[in-house]
Amino acid sequence: MNKEEAKIRIDQLCEELQEHNYRYYVLAQPSISDYDFDQKLKELEALETQYPEFVRPDSPTKRVGGEPTKDFPTVKHKYPMLSLSNSYSLEEIKEFDTRVHKVVGQEVEYVCELKYDGLAISLTYANGILTQAVTRGDGVRGDDVTNNVKTIRSIPLKLRGDYPPEFEIRGEVLMPRTEFERLNREREEIGDNPFANPRNAAAGSLKMQDPKEVAKRKLDAFLYYIPHELPGIKTHYDALKKARSWGLKISDNMAICRDMNQIMEYINDWDKGRQYLPYEIDGIVIKVNDLSLQQQLAYTAKNPRWAIAYKFKAERVETLLESIDYQVGRTGAITPVANLKPVLLAGTTVKRASLHNADIIAQLDVRIGDTVYVEKGGEIIPKIVGVNLNKRPAGAQPVKFIDRCPECGTPLIRKEGEAAHYCPNEDSCPPQIKGKLEHFISRKAMNIDSLGEGKIEMLYDHGLVKNVADLYDLTYTAILGLEKVIPAEEGKKEKRLSFREKTAENIIKGIEQSRKVPFPRVLYALGIRYVGETVAKKLTAHFKTINQLMAASFEELILVEEIGEKIAESVLLFFQKPVHQEIVTRLRAHGVQMEIKETQVSEPQLLQGKSFVVSGIFERHSRDEIKALIERFGGKNVSAISSKTDFVLAGANMGPAKKQKAKKLGISIISEEDFEEMIRQ
Ligand code: IVH
Repeated sequence: MNKEEAKIRIDQLCEELQEHNYRYYVLAQPSISDYDFDQKLKELEALETQYPEFVRPDSPTKRVGGEPTKDFPTVKHKYPMLSLSNSYSLEEIKEFDTRVHKVVGQEVEYVCELKYDGLAISLTYANGILTQAVTRGDGVRGDDVTNNVKTIRSIPLKLRGDYPPEFEIRGEVLMPRTEFERLNREREEIGDNPFANPRNAAAGSLKMQDPKEVAKRKLDAFLYYIPHELPGIKTHYDALKKARSWGLKISDNMAICRDMNQIMEYINDWDKGRQYLPYEIDGIVIKVNDLSLQQQLAYTAKNPRWAIAYKFKAERVETLLESIDYQVGRTGAITPVANLKPVLLAGTTVKRASLHNADIIAQLDVRIGDTVYVEKGGEIIPKIVGVNLNKRPAGAQPVKFIDRCPECGTPLIRKEGEAAHYCPNEDSCPPQIKGKLEHFISRKAMNIDSLGEGKIEMLYDHGLVKNVADLYDLTYTAILGLEKVIPAEEGKKEKRLSFREKTAENIIKGIEQSRKVPFPRVLYALGIRYVGETVAKKLTAHFKTINQLMAASFEELILVEEIGEKIAESVLLFFQKPVHQEIVTRLRAHGVQMEIKETQVSEPQLLQGKSFVVSGIFERHSRDEIKALIERFGGKNVSAISSKTDFVLAGANMGPAKKQKAKKLGISIISEEDFEEMIRQ
């Protein structure tokens, strides 16, 4: 492919991927498979690295382009971000309707919308490109979180159709329930406090310093308000419909209501229906549709007079806390679970509720025998929100958190600053062993999909596999015919699982094939605490072989990009243990990948022998991309400027101290363009 062809292909891929993103995230009607999408994205990434000069600012690869931020710049809102006055009863809605009629003196049409329980955001589009995203803040000034918001797939980076040259649109960033639950499970596993609700989780996510981390949080957004006039548009409803035609995500659940009865019907429908939504709503919003009537009604100091929020009451029941169970997770984190006297709540019977950790138990001061309040706001998982002290039985004692593991009896530990208690017996506590094995075979790790959860359990129960290295000792004859009987449960028949020829063959084949899995994924598969996929990639890219990683000191570990003290400690601790050293030795003996296979040199080594310090923020590449380019072209990245440094690649925001030092040592300071020129062939 020549340069011209590359440019055409890049443009074509950008447009295609934008269209697929729109269909997937905005319309929820994808028209290609995830796999095909990823292939196209990879092709685009490859072309963009080869031809950085053709990278477009709206490229779908640029969703996670920004560098980490310490403090978000404060931005003054062009139009203040007001909140709505709340109401909790139909009476109050009637009063609102009466006030509106008094002012306008004519028939009024309302638009009813869902009240999303997230955090408000204001987006600016200039010439169809998303240029700024600001939080509500105090309503006058908010935080510029543009780089983080760009990671939200349902927010288009580029619009389509006949959008005006510049406009603002407001909406709500939210976290879908399934993502919230996944995130909290993950947090509890690593000892972080869980978020209380999806709104807090969304807010916490948008304020994270690293857009890459935000991208992992799978946030979503709905847009619901344009705070200024649009040419030719006379109603709120039409404004949103227009915005939808530009590719923006507008809810399908808006309704025009012409009287109180219709409003009440909308409220009642959604009070029942909200439990089926994939995200939480905490009420509905009623807005006067006609924009000139909105103007006439105007604002109080805090709220528009043309809109009101109706908040749902959370359903709450009382029930008895009978006992507390303690569950042990893959990492040894202990989760207390309340056993409740079964009670009907919002259509389902509730028997159990998570109590999260010892702090939460202490905060609620729940005691066995207490009558507790259980709530189901919009959430699927019910929550204990308090205790009815009037019904506390005499002599009820505060809960004493267990001090030994319920599974293996090992004394629990609790690290300073962490919320969770842990069972430290990671290599012999049954749920931890099984959890580790399940993690090892999982898709992003060794991807042995012939071994699902149930099968691992079977191998473990038969004493065939006690750690991940044992998997590679399995033979066809050893596993053929293994059986397990799953006893009958309420309404279900007894089940028999057994390894027949085909199953046994597939398992052995799957394990065999996993030897080809590249080293970064192997390291991730080992299940070292805090070593997720990204960290595993960083560590392996830096140390290249497991031997060098195992030999690394604390100081050497924290020198690696993105490796902090917590991770470094965890890695050291892991490899210090003789059992883990033995597992590594055995895995290696079985042919599992324990080093980075150097990719063949395909680029001319134009930067051979040159060392670079990369600093600041760049326009067309992320810092990591630049560093990768330096290495691909044979150069070396160093972290600090010294007399041996050849070039300082300076982006915006590079600190003055660094600049001075480079000047003093006579080192060339080059720009992103200079660098591109250096590697142009
Ligand atoms: S309209 C000037 N519509 O609820 C009116 N707000 O206090 C601007 N919210 O701050 C807001 N869903 O964060 C509007 N469909 C919706 C909404 C909504 C949720 C939030 C928003 C606002 C708060 C009301």
